[in-house]
Amino acid sequence: MDMTSGDAAEPLSWFEASEQVLDPLLNARMLLALVEGADGAELLRAMHSTTTVADLALATGLGEDRVRDVCAALIAGDVAEADGSGVRLTPAWAALTGPAAFAPLASALRLGDVGAQTLGDLSGGSGFAGLSSGDRLAYASAVSPDPFSPGIVAAMRGGAGVPDAVRGRLHDGDRHLELGCGVAGRILCVLQAFPTLSAVGVEPAPDLAAEAERRAAALGVADRFEVLCADAVTVRLDGPFDVAFWSQFFFPAASRAGTLATAYQALRPGGMLLAPLLGDPSVAESDPHGSSTQSLSLARAVHGLWGVPDRSPEALVQEVADSGFVDVVVSRAPDSGVVVVIGTRP
Ligand SMILES: C[S@@+](CC[C@H](N)C(=O)[O-])C[C@H]1O[C@@H](n2cnc3c(N)ncnc32)[C@H](O)[C@@H]1O
Repeated sequence: MDMTSGDAAEPLSWFEASEQVLDPLLNARMLLALVEGADGAELLRAMHSTTTVADLALATGLGEDRVRDVCAALIAGDVAEADGSGVRLTPAWAALTGPAAFAPLASALRLGDVGAQTLGDLSGGSGFAGLSSGDRLAYASAVSPDPFSPGIVAAMRGGAGVPDAVRGRLHDGDRHLELGCGVAGRILCVLQAFPTLSAVGVEPAPDLAAEAERRAAALGVADRFEVLCADAVTVRLDGPFDVAFWSQFFFPAASRAGTLATAYQALRPGGMLLAPLLGDPSVAESDPHGSSTQSLSLARAVHGLWGVPDRSPEALVQEVADSGFVDVVVSRAPDSGVVVVIGTRP
């Protein structure tokens, strides 16, 4: 990180500085609150097609003046756009609230709240496990794909998000192990996309494990998915497994070597360990102040406060290799930003 300063810039007035850097952030915070309110009032749903203010007022039971003010702020914030005599969501917000959304909007917004709450106390509190149950559930739901979204399941069936090094190595009938399954968004999408697979999920938080089981039953895949409410370091598994997925960026330092030992013992020879990185660190090189770089550095700070050490691709490769895995590589899924370290059990 380059901390050297260049030539000193002209001092700004408080008003200039506020307009330049503080107002956009405060506006973004309020705009998100308004989006949450509009979502809760069913306004966003009604705005998927062009609708007049009068019809929006009728659909939501809100007064026309209130709807007009809200629409004006949503249009100024690029959430919505005027269309003839009506208003509709911009394409980006239509995608964020549409049938192929990665996570429900309410969960995504709550993830931001939990991150903000964590960053507001640099003592770190008691980690992810110490969050309130509601916050933990919301965060776990927002970081993994929505298994109730047919669009997401179809995309996964078509190979979306699959890193190059995994293609051709997934087979019918494989048994998958999900270490740190949370509410099991990812593995429940995989199980629906590939009906010959079965899986075991390991999750120590009882509320998340129970939600993972509830979702599996609701999706009709409970016969192919077992959830063990246990710590990955000490869990007893009925192996062997063909693939182990390790959500490593939730695992604090003290649990990492033991979890890798569990994965090693549970996999068959030739079985694959997949460990995703929190994000793609190369984004910072091309756009050091871009929103992807900001998202990644803020997420690193949040997970760091939860006691999880940050890992570069090279450091994670080394950690996996130190546990006995061979042919350890960094692999990217084209067009998705997914970067995964892959190791093979010899
Ligand atoms: C939120 S999930 C990640 C997403 C998950 N792969 C999915 O698709 O939903 C990560 C989980 O790892 C769990 N975790 C952290 N330390 C663990 C440990 N020692 N053993 C098992 N799970 C652990 C956390 O409780 C957290 O729920």
